[in-house]
Amino acid sequence: MYTSYQEAYRRSLEDREGFWAEAAGRITWDKTWDKVLDDSRKPFFRWFRGGRLNTCHNAVDRHVEAGRGEQAAIIYDSPVTGTKRKITYRELLEKVSLVAGMLKGLGVEKGDRVIIYMPMIPETVYAMLACARIGAVHSVVFGGFASGELAVRIEDAKPKVILSSTCGIEPKGPIPYKPLLDKAIELSGHKPEKCVIHKRPQVEADLVPGKDLDWDEALAKASPAGCLSVEATDPLYILYTSGTTGRPKGVMRDNGGHAVALAWSMENIYNVKPGDVYWAASDVGWVVGHSYIVYGPLIHGCTTVLYEGKPVGTPDPGAFWRVISEHRVKVLFTAPTAFRAIKKEDPSGSYVKKYDISCLKHLFLAGERLDPDTYHWASDLLKIPVIDHWWQTETGWAIAANCMGIEQLPVKAGSPTKPVPGYDVRIIDEAAREVGPGTEGVIGIRLPLPPGCLPTLWENDEGYVSSYLTEYPGYYATGDGGYMDPDGYIYIMGRVDDVINVAGHRLSTGGMEEVVARHKDVAECAVIGVEDGLKGQVPIGFVVLKAGVDRPHEEITREIVDMVRNEIGALACLKDIAVVTRLPKTRSGKILRSTMRKIADGKEYTTPSTIEDPAALQEIAGAARTIGYPKQ
Ligand code: COA
Ligand code: AMP
Repeated sequence: MYTSYQEAYRRSLEDREGFWAEAAGRITWDKTWDKVLDDSRKPFFRWFRGGRLNTCHNAVDRHVEAGRGEQAAIIYDSPVTGTKRKITYRELLEKVSLVAGMLKGLGVEKGDRVIIYMPMIPETVYAMLACARIGAVHSVVFGGFASGELAVRIEDAKPKVILSSTCGIEPKGPIPYKPLLDKAIELSGHKPEKCVIHKRPQVEADLVPGKDLDWDEALAKASPAGCLSVEATDPLYILYTSGTTGRPKGVMRDNGGHAVALAWSMENIYNVKPGDVYWAASDVGWVVGHSYIVYGPLIHGCTTVLYEGKPVGTPDPGAFWRVISEHRVKVLFTAPTAFRAIKKEDPSGSYVKKYDISCLKHLFLAGERLDPDTYHWASDLLKIPVIDHWWQTETGWAIAANCMGIEQLPVKAGSPTKPVPGYDVRIIDEAAREVGPGTEGVIGIRLPLPPGCLPTLWENDEGYVSSYLTEYPGYYATGDGGYMDPDGYIYIMGRVDDVINVAGHRLSTGGMEEVVARHKDVAECAVIGVEDGLKGQVPIGFVVLKAGVDRPHEEITREIVDMVRNEIGALACLKDIAVVTRLPKTRSGKILRSTMRKIADGKEYTTPSTIEDPAALQEIAGAARTIGYPKQ
């Protein structure tokens, strides 16, 4: 409808309610809202107050009613199991209705939480939509997280039921989930009433009578359930994300604003139409998976690709090109790290030549910084627009992008272009004063946030305000630093907190430090994120041992690595740990993490004037060299 970015952007800020009321026309409502933007309880803004809808109806039923029943809703492509399957919208409706009925049969009611700890299989999508169908609140936990991370989520979300599978499948083989789930429930103070386990042929699991149910048997007893009309402001899901501590933040998403924002984004950012094939090569455990494997494409009537595989090794660096050509993918969305992995194995891009990928119109990248090298490589290879866009779990959809459905703006390598309509993005200093073009600062978004963004944290209004709204009054603090150029293009310089991005996975170095500090021989530790050519960033650790510990350092560091793998998960990738006699600190006792980062990255640094003991920095430099940093 808009043909100029500038016009759309201006209207979205000058007439917010008009802009979003119009956008809401893409959604089927049971009852129209009373108020587009309810600002009666600032800073808690709520969109479409009084409106009623069902997100699952919008993602499934209405497409069948409109004649899309025979169109593929999901293409499940799993090189790790050798499976390819199309699920039509009609089949999806049947499956989802039955899973919804199963949940109802287990006593799950509106507002009850359901944790979904499952891999990239269609049943996971059925489970998410089934929760939405009956007004239950799902919380998907990424399959790569181990027991400790799962336990804190169970403890916080207090699920009535947990849905899981016997395993996930990584290229190196199956990862059994049931032992991780059982351990997590043991660790958690909250116990679910039932666990329903979907059995995959690759791994068996013993079910505990009375507690565990077999997915297929439970489904056989279920009768299909219909859609429950819920308030636009009712919660749809909770997705936990890393903050600065070991306690993840429960990002809450509502029904109405979420559906409106995603439908708008499919058309205006990604430029796809109902019936197009859209592929987000991510995982349902991350926000990208929630928004752009499941809800966005399905609400928009697209065909979504559910890919259980990797960019390389399943079986080769041509995996993405095969999927694109076989399923006629129009838009691919993935993380830059996936392209770096492909580039590393196939620098000349020879595998592309084996496939006809003329169907691919746009490549969208997000989740971490898109380095200019990777941008140019992808762009030269594919000869289509390569669009960097910037967002985060909290917002649920892009904050800055080149809105391909409105107007393609010139691309500047290294920038995710301009703020997306709805987001009033400003670069500010410590006193929340706006800084001029070219000056680096913290990236804030002036309140209110647009629809689809988190209205609060799960049962933690206070945490929402203190984490995001307090430091810079009037703004939502994104946690990222950066600058704007004179043309209004945004440049993201990285997190200003302890959050790191490892292969597009958001992790907390603070959370890792909490695990490392629990090792019996560790007196003190610091985990920092350093640059990595493939994964963007990886964590490395420095530990000070307790006095009198005389075991071999190698043994201790190996135990620490195992602890992190067992409690957080292998995806944390904390592999390199050095033992030091002290950590560099300020006189007030603050660990000088940013100076340590510069040393480990081989960058210039100045010794802070507040340092307690300058020799500690030399020790860090020496210790970093022993574990291979800076990388050559
Ligand atoms: N379940 C269980 N374990 C998992 C997992 C999952 N879903 N995902 C990753 N892991 C494990 C891996 O098996 C690996 O374990 P290991 O140390 O025992 O070998 C570890 O976590 C690290 O995995 P990964 O980050 O995948 O590293 P890799 O070196 O195996 O692969 C890439 C590198 C770049 C190919 C891979 O990280 C990748 O595909 N990245 C894209 C990420 C992405 O799409 N992010 C979504 C944001 S949009
Ligand atoms: P997540 O919540 O896991 O999606 O991670 C969000 C964080 O990833 C952001 O706060 C950024 O630090 C980083 N990020 C996401 N997209 C980009 C991008 N396009 N450029 C730079 N950093 C990004």
